[in-house]
Amino acid sequence: MSEQNQVKLELDDIQRGVLSPRPSPYAATYILFRIDDRRHGRELMRRASAVVTSAADSMSPLGETWVSIALTYHGLKALGVPQESLSTFAWEFRQGMAARAKALGDVGENSPEHWESPLGTPDVHVVLVALAPDSAELEAAIDRARPAYEALSGVKAIWRQNCHALPTETEPFGYRDGISHPAVEGSGIPGSNTLEEPLKAGEFVLGYRDELGGLQAPTPEVLGRNGTYVVFRKLHQRVALFRQYLKDNSTSPEDEELLAAKIMGRWRSGAPLALSPDRDDPALDADPYRNSFLYQKDDPAGFITPGGCHIRRGNPRDAAVAGVVRLHRMIRRGTVYGPPLPEGVLEDDGVDRGLMFAFVGAHLGRQFEFVQTEWMNDGVFFGADDAKDPVVGFSDGSGDFTIPRRPVRRRLLSLPSFVLTRGGEYCFMPGLTALRWLGDLTG
Ligand code: HEM
Repeated sequence: MSEQNQVKLELDDIQRGVLSPRPSPYAATYILFRIDDRRHGRELMRRASAVVTSAADSMSPLGETWVSIALTYHGLKALGVPQESLSTFAWEFRQGMAARAKALGDVGENSPEHWESPLGTPDVHVVLVALAPDSAELEAAIDRARPAYEALSGVKAIWRQNCHALPTETEPFGYRDGISHPAVEGSGIPGSNTLEEPLKAGEFVLGYRDELGGLQAPTPEVLGRNGTYVVFRKLHQRVALFRQYLKDNSTSPEDEELLAAKIMGRWRSGAPLALSPDRDDPALDADPYRNSFLYQKDDPAGFITPGGCHIRRGNPRDAAVAGVVRLHRMIRRGTVYGPPLPEGVLEDDGVDRGLMFAFVGAHLGRQFEFVQTEWMNDGVFFGADDAKDPVVGFSDGSGDFTIPRRPVRRRLLSLPSFVLTRGGEYCFMPGLTALRWLGDLTG
């Protein structure tokens, strides 16, 4: 029996949002709640546990609408989770994203004092994400659910962000997103890169062995098991600035597209440079092996896929640090917010648009924080000193990006920040049994 068959994930207790890919297209909404009265907060958990769907369910109690629930550290406290249990959660989670701002590179205009209220404040307790095939169905489901939470006077909805996935699955800069995801042992969901061995379940779900053989989960077991950590970040994208920068630094429309591909590591269609080095190849989208490629073996110096591009930083695959890469993988879900900037527009229209970035993983520190700080905000790991990610790295305008090329490399200078942090939270997404346990807390 292979080891994969030995791991039995309790899919009927894990929230669907953890492992299952999202449908496409879809409309989604994030609703944040503050708990002013713990009895009402517990009742919210009880009501939520009746509508949250598990990874084993093919049908949702709300029809086509799927709901996930997560809590911040302040949220767990507000529900009255005992201190001896609170102190078993990851220390990064206990501190919260705003407190980790300096480490994460959320400085200057990205710093928490500029975040959208109430993000990053102790008022954010519960994060509800609802997902439906379109916005009409989503609104209808929220309208049906509203009386259930509005009747609880001790719980207040304090923020809402609508988002969506377009049928093209492009993010606001125009790249196809949602391609790469790791295989998780025991989940039954195949990974997108057939060259990557499935990762141990404990990398993504608490209470199972991880890649280091460790078994992590907050206690008591009923609370920690089958839960995971979720990070969400509202990232504003300066689309006009991005387009203008590409235009100003290229010699022709074809060169502009090549530059866009070198920065991301993929052409706009999602075709990776690794498999299509010279031109975009949208037909690759239908190829089941479109994400099966390595870097170190075939392109160690980055002549095809630059070491500093976004996807090679996010997942260096078989890089010289191989083996270790497996400790820094993540399940990643980007959902677009705001209307697209019309094709060809190079002037900022002042509209807020970007990505609701979501991370899912059992190790906030060595997965999300490590990738953000060491791989996105630093270049030392591939020999580029402090060069930051050209897409998401914070830059004061002096950033640079090197594209290896023969006979001379190409360098992009004076890179501005194309992405701004509007805020975010570290959350714990409990299993379904844990949700009910939270609802039944007393005292
Ligand atoms: C507005 C901000 C961002 C944009 C526009 C963006 C865009 C993209 C796109 C288009 C892809 C390729 C699609 C895919 O491989 O599925 C991608 C992949 C990825 N991104 Fe981002 N991203 C953003 C923020 C981030 C952040 C903050 C992180 C991590 C801290 C991150 C980590 C990754 C990873 C790990 C991959 C997959 C790489 C692979 O497995 O090959 N991204 N991103």
